[in-house]
Amino acid sequence: MADKARIAILISGAGTNMAALVYASRIADCPYEVVLVAANDPAAGGLALAQAEGIPTFALPHKGMTREAHDAAMEAAVLAAGADHIVLAGYMRILSDGFVQRWAGRMLNIHPSLLPLYKGLDTHARAIAAGESHGGTSVHLVTPELDAGEVLAQIAVPIVPGDTPATLAERVKHAEHQLYPRAVADYVSRWRNPSWLLAQLRARALALPETSEQKSFGSAGFRVGGSKSGKYFAYFSERPHGHERIALLVKTSGMDELHALIEDQPDIYFKPAFYGASGWVGIVLDRPDLDWGDIETWLQRSWRSVAPKRLTRLMNIADQF
Ligand code: GAR
Repeated sequence: MADKARIAILISGAGTNMAALVYASRIADCPYEVVLVAANDPAAGGLALAQAEGIPTFALPHKGMTREAHDAAMEAAVLAAGADHIVLAGYMRILSDGFVQRWAGRMLNIHPSLLPLYKGLDTHARAIAAGESHGGTSVHLVTPELDAGEVLAQIAVPIVPGDTPATLAERVKHAEHQLYPRAVADYVSRWRNPSWLLAQLRARALALPETSEQKSFGSAGFRVGGSKSGKYFAYFSERPHGHERIALLVKTSGMDELHALIEDQPDIYFKPAFYGASGWVGIVLDRPDLDWGDIETWLQRSWRSVAPKRLTRLMNIADQF
Protein backbone atom coordinates (compact mmCIF):
# COMPACT_ATOMS: atom_id res chain seq x y z
CA MET A 1 0.00 0.00 0.00
CA ALA A 2 1.12 3.54 -0.72
CA ASP A 3 2.21 5.81 2.11
CA LYS A 4 -0.46 7.02 4.48
CA ALA A 5 -1.90 10.53 4.28
CA ARG A 6 -0.61 12.76 7.07
CA ILE A 7 -3.34 14.69 8.84
CA ALA A 8 -3.14 17.58 11.30
CA ILE A 9 -6.19 17.89 13.57
CA LEU A 10 -7.23 21.32 14.88
CA ILE A 11 -9.37 21.46 18.04
CA SER A 12 -10.68 23.99 20.52
CA GLY A 13 -12.28 21.82 23.19
CA ALA A 14 -12.82 18.30 24.47
CA GLY A 15 -11.50 16.72 21.31
CA THR A 16 -13.72 13.65 21.31
CA ASN A 17 -13.78 13.68 17.50
CA MET A 18 -10.01 14.01 17.53
CA ALA A 19 -9.88 10.92 19.78
CA ALA A 20 -12.13 9.00 17.38
CA LEU A 21 -9.84 9.95 14.49
CA VAL A 22 -6.74 8.94 16.44
CA TYR A 23 -8.10 5.53 17.47
CA ALA A 24 -9.33 4.78 13.97
CA SER A 25 -5.79 5.52 12.79
CA ARG A 26 -4.53 2.82 15.16
CA ILE A 27 -6.40 0.14 13.20
CA ALA A 28 -4.25 -1.57 10.59
CA ASP A 29 -4.85 -0.37 7.03
CA CYS A 30 -6.18 3.04 8.07
CA PRO A 31 -5.08 5.24 5.16
CA TYR A 32 -4.12 8.22 7.33
CA GLU A 33 -1.92 8.94 10.34
CA VAL A 34 -2.27 11.83 12.78
CA VAL A 35 0.93 13.88 12.75
CA LEU A 36 -0.21 16.88 14.82
CA VAL A 37 -2.97 17.98 17.15
CA ALA A 38 -3.11 21.77 17.44
CA ALA A 39 -5.40 24.01 19.48
CA ASN A 40 -6.16 27.68 19.90
CA ASP A 41 -6.65 27.03 23.62
CA PRO A 42 -3.80 25.54 25.67
CA ALA A 43 -6.42 24.15 28.07
CA ALA A 44 -8.25 22.20 25.36
CA GLY A 45 -8.95 18.78 26.85
CA GLY A 46 -7.88 16.93 23.75
CA LEU A 47 -4.26 18.09 23.98
CA ALA A 48 -3.49 15.92 27.01
CA LEU A 49 -4.82 12.84 25.27
CA ALA A 50 -2.82 13.59 22.12
CA GLN A 51 0.32 13.97 24.22
CA ALA A 52 -0.35 10.72 26.04
CA GLU A 53 -0.72 9.07 22.63
CA GLY A 54 2.70 10.40 21.62
CA ILE A 55 1.29 12.72 18.99
CA PRO A 56 3.05 16.10 18.63
CA THR A 57 0.90 18.99 19.86
CA PHE A 58 0.88 22.73 19.40
CA ALA A 59 -1.19 25.33 21.25
CA LEU A 60 -1.44 29.06 20.68
CA PRO A 61 -4.15 31.29 22.20
CA HIS A 62 -5.56 33.67 19.62
CA LYS A 63 -6.13 36.48 22.11
CA GLY A 64 -4.37 39.68 21.07
CA MET A 65 -3.45 38.34 17.61
CA THR A 66 -4.98 39.24 14.27
CA ARG A 67 -6.84 36.41 12.59
CA GLU A 68 -4.23 36.29 9.82
CA ALA A 69 -1.30 36.14 12.26
CA HIS A 70 -2.92 33.41 14.33
CA ASP A 71 -3.82 31.38 11.23
CA ALA A 72 -0.27 31.80 9.92
CA ALA A 73 1.18 30.42 13.16
CA MET A 74 -1.19 27.44 13.12
CA GLU A 75 -0.39 26.81 9.47
CA ALA A 76 3.35 26.97 10.16
CA ALA A 77 2.93 24.27 12.82
CA VAL A 78 0.91 22.15 10.37
CA LEU A 79 3.59 22.49 7.69
CA ALA A 80 6.40 21.79 10.15
CA ALA A 81 4.62 18.54 11.05
CA GLY A 82 4.63 17.57 7.38
CA ALA A 83 0.84 17.29 7.21
CA ASP A 84 -0.85 17.06 3.82
CA HIS A 85 -4.43 17.49 5.09
CA ILE A 86 -6.00 19.62 7.84
CA VAL A 87 -8.93 18.10 9.70
CA LEU A 88 -10.97 20.52 11.82
CA ALA A 89 -12.60 18.81 14.80
CA GLY A 90 -14.50 21.30 16.91
CA TYR A 91 -12.09 24.08 15.98
CA MET A 92 -14.27 27.06 16.85
CA ARG A 93 -12.52 29.68 14.75
CA ILE A 94 -13.46 31.38 11.50
CA LEU A 95 -10.45 30.95 9.21
CA SER A 96 -8.99 33.67 6.99
CA ASP A 97 -9.65 33.28 3.26
CA GLY A 98 -5.96 32.95 2.36
CA PHE A 99 -5.47 30.04 4.77
CA VAL A 100 -8.58 28.26 3.45
CA GLN A 101 -7.61 28.81 -0.18
CA ARG A 102 -4.10 27.45 0.28
CA TRP A 103 -5.63 24.22 1.63
CA ALA A 104 -8.50 24.01 -0.85
CA GLY A 105 -9.42 20.36 -1.32
CA ARG A 106 -7.17 19.38 1.58
CA MET A 107 -9.13 20.76 4.56
CA LEU A 108 -12.17 19.02 6.07
CA ASN A 109 -14.58 19.98 8.83
CA ILE A 110 -17.34 18.28 10.79
CA HIS A 111 -20.44 20.29 11.62
CA PRO A 112 -23.21 19.08 13.94
CA SER A 113 -26.21 19.53 11.62
CA LEU A 114 -27.58 18.15 8.38
CA LEU A 115 -26.02 20.78 6.12
CA PRO A 116 -27.13 22.91 4.38
CA LEU A 117 -29.46 23.26 7.39
CA TYR A 118 -28.33 25.12 10.50
CA LYS A 119 -24.92 26.47 9.59
CA GLY A 120 -22.98 28.33 12.27
CA LEU A 121 -23.57 28.23 16.04
CA ASP A 122 -26.37 26.83 18.25
CA THR A 123 -27.36 24.24 15.66
CA HIS A 124 -28.96 21.84 18.15
CA ALA A 125 -31.07 24.52 19.84
CA ARG A 126 -32.29 25.79 16.48
CA ALA A 127 -33.14 22.30 15.20
CA ILE A 128 -35.14 21.53 18.37
CA ALA A 129 -36.93 24.90 18.31
CA ALA A 130 -37.89 24.35 14.67
CA GLY A 131 -39.56 21.04 15.61
CA GLU A 132 -37.26 18.98 13.39
CA SER A 133 -37.61 15.20 13.64
CA HIS A 134 -33.84 14.84 13.18
CA GLY A 135 -30.59 16.60 13.79
CA GLY A 136 -27.38 15.12 12.50
CA THR A 137 -23.84 15.67 11.43
CA SER A 138 -22.05 16.50 8.19
CA VAL A 139 -18.45 16.21 7.03
CA HIS A 140 -17.62 18.79 4.39
CA LEU A 141 -14.76 20.39 2.52
CA VAL A 142 -13.81 23.79 3.91
CA THR A 143 -14.30 26.79 1.61
CA PRO A 144 -14.17 30.50 2.49
CA GLU A 145 -17.95 30.62 3.03
CA LEU A 146 -18.82 29.19 6.48
CA ASP A 147 -20.07 25.55 6.48
CA ALA A 148 -20.80 25.75 2.75
CA GLY A 149 -18.23 23.46 1.09
CA GLU A 150 -19.12 20.19 -0.65
CA VAL A 151 -20.72 17.72 1.76
CA LEU A 152 -18.80 14.43 1.76
CA ALA A 153 -20.86 12.39 4.22
CA GLN A 154 -23.79 12.77 6.63
CA ILE A 155 -25.65 10.86 9.33
CA ALA A 156 -29.15 11.86 10.52
CA VAL A 157 -29.81 11.49 14.26
CA PRO A 158 -33.36 11.51 15.73
CA ILE A 159 -34.50 14.21 18.11
CA VAL A 160 -36.41 12.49 20.95
CA PRO A 161 -39.07 13.92 23.33
CA GLY A 162 -37.52 15.98 26.11
CA ASP A 163 -34.28 16.57 24.21
CA THR A 164 -32.25 19.62 25.18
CA PRO A 165 -29.43 21.02 23.07
CA ALA A 166 -27.02 19.21 25.41
CA THR A 167 -28.69 15.78 25.17
CA LEU A 168 -28.99 16.08 21.40
CA ALA A 169 -25.36 17.23 21.09
CA GLU A 170 -24.24 14.17 23.02
CA ARG A 171 -26.25 11.80 20.78
CA VAL A 172 -24.97 13.51 17.64
CA LYS A 173 -21.41 13.03 18.86
CA HIS A 174 -21.88 9.25 18.86
CA ALA A 175 -22.71 9.53 15.16
CA GLU A 176 -19.82 11.92 14.55
CA HIS A 177 -17.34 9.50 16.08
CA GLN A 178 -18.41 6.87 13.55
CA LEU A 179 -18.69 9.20 10.60
CA TYR A 180 -15.59 11.34 10.76
CA PRO A 181 -12.85 8.68 10.72
CA ARG A 182 -14.61 6.87 7.87
CA ALA A 183 -15.17 10.07 5.86
CA VAL A 184 -11.55 11.17 6.30
CA ALA A 185 -10.27 7.71 5.36
CA ASP A 186 -12.46 7.61 2.23
CA TYR A 187 -11.44 11.11 1.23
CA VAL A 188 -7.67 10.70 1.55
CA SER A 189 -7.77 7.37 -0.30
CA ARG A 190 -10.16 8.39 -3.09
CA TRP A 191 -7.22 8.60 -5.53
CA ARG A 192 -7.15 4.80 -5.57
CA ASN A 193 -10.90 4.20 -5.36
CA PRO A 194 -12.09 2.76 -8.71
CA SER A 195 -15.58 4.31 -8.46
CA TRP A 196 -14.19 7.76 -7.79
CA LEU A 197 -11.62 7.46 -10.58
CA LEU A 198 -14.26 6.28 -13.06
CA ALA A 199 -16.58 9.17 -12.11
CA GLN A 200 -13.74 11.67 -12.68
CA LEU A 201 -12.87 10.10 -16.01
CA ARG A 202 -16.50 9.84 -17.14
CA ALA A 203 -17.15 13.53 -16.48
CA ARG A 204 -14.16 14.49 -18.64
CA ALA A 205 -14.75 11.97 -21.44
CA LEU A 206 -18.43 12.81 -21.80
CA ALA A 207 -17.66 16.55 -21.84
CA LEU A 208 -16.15 16.05 -25.34
CA PRO A 209 -18.49 16.51 -28.33
CA GLU A 210 -20.84 13.68 -29.37
CA THR A 211 -19.57 11.13 -26.90
CA SER A 212 -21.32 8.26 -25.16
CA GLU A 213 -20.44 5.48 -22.77
CA GLN A 214 -20.66 1.82 -23.69
CA LYS A 215 -19.27 -1.25 -21.97
CA SER A 216 -16.66 -3.26 -23.78
CA PHE A 217 -15.66 -6.68 -22.40
CA GLY A 218 -16.79 -5.57 -18.94
CA SER A 219 -14.88 -2.28 -18.92
CA ALA A 220 -16.37 1.19 -19.24
CA GLY A 221 -15.61 2.55 -22.69
CA PHE A 222 -16.15 5.96 -24.25
CA ARG A 223 -17.09 6.47 -27.88
CA VAL A 224 -17.44 9.36 -30.27
CA GLY A 225 -19.92 9.45 -33.14
CA GLY A 226 -23.20 7.68 -33.81
CA SER A 227 -24.29 4.43 -32.17
CA LYS A 228 -23.26 2.28 -35.18
CA SER A 229 -20.48 4.26 -36.85
CA GLY A 230 -19.01 5.52 -33.56
CA LYS A 231 -15.55 4.56 -32.37
CA TYR A 232 -13.98 4.04 -28.97
CA PHE A 233 -11.46 6.64 -27.90
CA ALA A 234 -10.95 5.59 -24.25
CA TYR A 235 -11.40 2.65 -21.92
CA PHE A 236 -11.36 2.57 -18.13
CA SER A 237 -9.69 -0.57 -16.95
CA GLU A 238 -9.69 -1.71 -13.35
CA ARG A 239 -7.28 -4.57 -13.82
CA PRO A 240 -5.95 -4.48 -17.36
CA HIS A 241 -4.58 -7.87 -18.40
CA GLY A 242 -1.06 -8.23 -17.14
CA HIS A 243 -1.28 -5.11 -14.98
CA GLU A 244 -2.27 -4.62 -11.37
CA ARG A 245 -3.16 -0.96 -11.53
CA ILE A 246 -6.25 1.03 -12.47
CA ALA A 247 -5.69 2.54 -15.90
CA LEU A 248 -6.99 4.60 -18.76
CA LEU A 249 -6.37 3.24 -22.25
CA VAL A 250 -6.09 5.82 -25.06
CA LYS A 251 -4.67 5.94 -28.57
CA THR A 252 -1.18 7.24 -29.27
CA SER A 253 0.10 8.30 -32.68
CA GLY A 254 1.66 4.84 -33.08
CA MET A 255 4.26 2.37 -31.90
CA ASP A 256 7.16 4.84 -31.80
CA GLU A 257 5.36 7.15 -29.42
CA LEU A 258 4.05 4.25 -27.35
CA HIS A 259 7.53 2.85 -26.80
CA ALA A 260 9.04 6.26 -26.08
CA LEU A 261 6.41 6.94 -23.40
CA ILE A 262 7.00 3.62 -21.71
CA GLU A 263 10.75 4.05 -21.80
CA ASP A 264 10.59 7.59 -20.34
CA GLN A 265 8.02 6.96 -17.62
CA PRO A 266 7.59 3.25 -16.98
CA ASP A 267 5.72 3.92 -13.70
CA ILE A 268 2.99 5.77 -15.56
CA TYR A 269 2.75 4.28 -19.07
CA PHE A 270 2.52 0.66 -20.11
CA LYS A 271 1.67 -1.39 -23.16
CA PRO A 272 -1.73 -2.98 -22.58
CA ALA A 273 -2.47 -6.51 -23.76
CA PHE A 274 -4.31 -6.68 -27.12
CA TYR A 275 -4.78 -2.91 -27.51
CA GLY A 276 -1.06 -2.21 -27.24
CA ALA A 277 -0.49 -3.94 -30.56
CA SER A 278 -2.46 -1.21 -32.31
CA GLY A 279 -0.80 1.71 -30.56
CA TRP A 280 -2.99 2.15 -27.50
CA VAL A 281 -1.20 3.10 -24.28
CA GLY A 282 -2.18 2.33 -20.68
CA ILE A 283 -1.91 5.28 -18.27
CA VAL A 284 -1.90 4.42 -14.57
CA LEU A 285 -4.64 6.40 -12.81
CA ASP A 286 -4.24 5.31 -9.19
CA ARG A 287 -1.43 7.71 -8.32
CA PRO A 288 -1.76 10.27 -5.50
CA ASP A 289 -0.09 12.92 -7.68
CA LEU A 290 -2.18 12.27 -10.81
CA ASP A 291 -2.65 15.43 -12.88
CA TRP A 292 -6.20 15.44 -14.30
CA GLY A 293 -5.12 18.13 -16.76
CA ASP A 294 -2.82 15.55 -18.40
CA ILE A 295 -5.65 13.06 -18.54
CA GLU A 296 -7.89 15.65 -20.24
CA THR A 297 -5.19 16.28 -22.84
CA TRP A 298 -4.89 12.55 -23.55
CA LEU A 299 -8.66 12.16 -23.84
CA GLN A 300 -8.84 15.07 -26.29
CA ARG A 301 -6.02 13.69 -28.43
CA SER A 302 -7.49 10.22 -28.52
CA TRP A 303 -10.99 11.59 -29.21
CA ARG A 304 -9.61 13.62 -32.07
CA SER A 305 -7.81 10.71 -33.65
CA VAL A 306 -11.04 8.75 -34.12
CA ALA A 307 -13.74 11.47 -34.29
CA PRO A 308 -15.55 11.96 -37.60
CA LYS A 309 -13.99 14.58 -39.90
CA ARG A 310 -16.96 16.91 -39.60
CA LEU A 311 -16.15 17.25 -35.86
CA THR A 312 -12.38 17.61 -36.16
CA ARG A 313 -12.27 19.87 -39.22
CA LEU A 314 -12.97 23.06 -37.27
CA MET A 315 -10.34 22.20 -34.70
CA ASN A 316 -7.75 21.53 -37.36
CA ILE A 317 -8.43 24.94 -38.88
CA ALA A 318 -8.17 26.60 -35.47
CA ASP A 319 -4.83 24.86 -34.89
CA GLN A 320 -3.30 26.57 -37.93
CA PHE A 321 -3.51 29.97 -36.26
C1 GAR B 1 -18.56 18.53 17.56
O1 GAR B 1 -19.90 18.18 17.76
C2 GAR B 1 -18.41 19.26 16.25
O2 GAR B 1 -19.29 18.83 15.25
C3 GAR B 1 -18.72 20.66 16.63
O3 GAR B 1 -18.12 20.84 17.89
C4 GAR B 1 -18.12 19.58 18.55
C5 GAR B 1 -16.71 19.34 19.05
O4 GAR B 1 -16.70 18.27 19.96
N1 GAR B 1 -18.22 21.59 15.67
C6 GAR B 1 -18.81 22.74 15.37
O5 GAR B 1 -19.80 23.14 15.92
C7 GAR B 1 -18.13 23.52 14.27
N2 GAR B 1 -18.94 24.61 13.83
P1 GAR B 1 -15.34 17.55 20.34
O6 GAR B 1 -14.34 18.60 20.78
O7 GAR B 1 -15.72 16.64 21.46
O8 GAR B 1 -14.89 16.80 19.14
